[in-house]
Amino acid sequence: MIQLVRGFKDILPEETPRWQHIEKTVRTLFEDFGFREIRPPILEKTELFKRSIGEDTDIVEKEMYSFEDRNGDSLTLRPEATASVVRSYIQHKMYAADPVQKMYTIGPMFRRERPQKGRYRQFYQINAEVFGIESPLIDAQLIFMLVNLFSRLSVTGIRVHMNSLGCPGCRPDFKKNLSDFLALKKQLLCENCGRRIGRNPMRALDCKVPSCREAVSEAPSILHSLCSNCRSHFEAVSRMLEQQGVGFEVDKRLVRGLDYYTRTTFEIQTGELGAQSAVAGGGRYDGLVEALGGPSQPAIGFAVGFDRLLEILPAKDKNRDAGPEIFVAALGDESVIKAYLWATDLSVAGISSEIDLTGRSLKSLMKRADRLNAAHVLIVGEDELKKGEAILRNMKTKEQYLISVNGIVENIRNIICQ
Ligand code: HAM
Repeated sequence: MIQLVRGFKDILPEETPRWQHIEKTVRTLFEDFGFREIRPPILEKTELFKRSIGEDTDIVEKEMYSFEDRNGDSLTLRPEATASVVRSYIQHKMYAADPVQKMYTIGPMFRRERPQKGRYRQFYQINAEVFGIESPLIDAQLIFMLVNLFSRLSVTGIRVHMNSLGCPGCRPDFKKNLSDFLALKKQLLCENCGRRIGRNPMRALDCKVPSCREAVSEAPSILHSLCSNCRSHFEAVSRMLEQQGVGFEVDKRLVRGLDYYTRTTFEIQTGELGAQSAVAGGGRYDGLVEALGGPSQPAIGFAVGFDRLLEILPAKDKNRDAGPEIFVAALGDESVIKAYLWATDLSVAGISSEIDLTGRSLKSLMKRADRLNAAHVLIVGEDELKKGEAILRNMKTKEQYLISVNGIVENIRNIICQ
C-alpha cells in the first residue's frame, strides 16, 4: 500500500472543522484590522528564497524542496510566505497605488526538517504582512493583533518574546563583537555555527545544539549596540505594548532563523509543545523590498504555525464536528426515492441533510445518525408514506413530530427553527 510521504499528513474530515474555526477567526480579526487576503503560488524561483531568507540559514542550506524544472529553472516549494508576498508587492507595483499595504495569507509551507511533534515537512502558516509604515505603532499593533488572535481562540499560557536586531547602521558593530566573542568559544560550537562565525555569527544565538546554547549564554546583547534611532524605535514599541496591556519579555537571544530581519523581532512561545516552543514569529524586514528590486519601503509581519496553534487549542474547541441538521432514514425502495428528493430539496434550501442509501435496518440507521451527530432524523417508512406523513425526531430531546409530506421542507423548517 502506498503511504504518505514522511513528515506530510492528511487533515481528515473530522479534523477540518477545527481548521475552519481558526481560519474563520483569523479572517474576521485580520479584516477588522484592515488586512486583505493575498494568495501567492506555492512554487517560486529558488533564487527568491536564497536572496531573502539568506544563503547561510538552515532553511536555504538544507531544508528546501528544490528541483530543476524541465527548462532548467531551479524552482522551490515555498518554505515560508514572506518572500512571495514581497515579490508580489514589487511585481504588481502595489506601492505605486499606495505604499501602505496590509495583507494576510493562509496556506502550506514546506521544509525538509526532521519530523517530530509540532514539526512537519508540510505545515501551514497564517501570515500577516504590512508594507510602507515605519512608525513603531504598527509593530505594536501587529503584536497586539497576534496576541488578540490567541485570546479569541481561548489559548492561554503563551509568552511574547521581543528583541531588536538593529539596522545596517548599527548591526555590523554588534556582529564584530559577537564574532570576537564566539571565536573564543569556538570549541563549543557545532560545525554549522563554527563555520558561520565570520559571515553570520548571529545564527549561533538561536542554534538549538546544547553546547552552542552554553557557548552563547553570556554573549553580548545586541540591545547594547543599537544606534539611537533603533533604540528609540524599540522603546516606543515597548511603551505602546505596555499601554495596551500586552505583557512581553525582552529576549536578547531572539534572532530568528531568517536573515531578512531588522529592528523589532518577536516570537510567541508556549511550554506545551516540547522542543517546538514557537507558535508564531515575526519582525521587521525594512531592507527586503529594496533588496529584491523594489523601492525602499519598510515592512513588518509575522507567521503563526497553524499546526502548532491547533495543538494548543483548548479541548472544547477541538471538537467542533457538527453533524447534519437532518439525517434521512428511509425504509423501502419507494420511500428511498421520495426521501432522496426531499433530502436534495433540504440541502438546496440551506438545511444540511444526509440520506442513507445503503438499505440498512432502522436500528442501524439510527446508530449511524448518532455517530454522525445529526440534530434530527427524518424517518420515512412505507406505512407513513401511504398516509402522506413522516416522523421527525429531535436527537437531543428525543421529541418526535408527525409531519405532512406536503411542503415537507417548510414543515421541517418550522419545527427546527422553533
Ligand atoms: P518562522 O519562524 O520560520 O518565520 O515560522 C513561523 C512559525 O511557523 C513558527 O513559529 C512555527 O510555529 C511554524 N513552523 C515553522 N516551521 C515549522 C515546521 N516544520 N512544522 C510546523 N510548524 C512550523 C517565518 O516563516 C517568517 N516568514 C515569519 C514572518 C512573516 N516574518 C515576517 N513576516
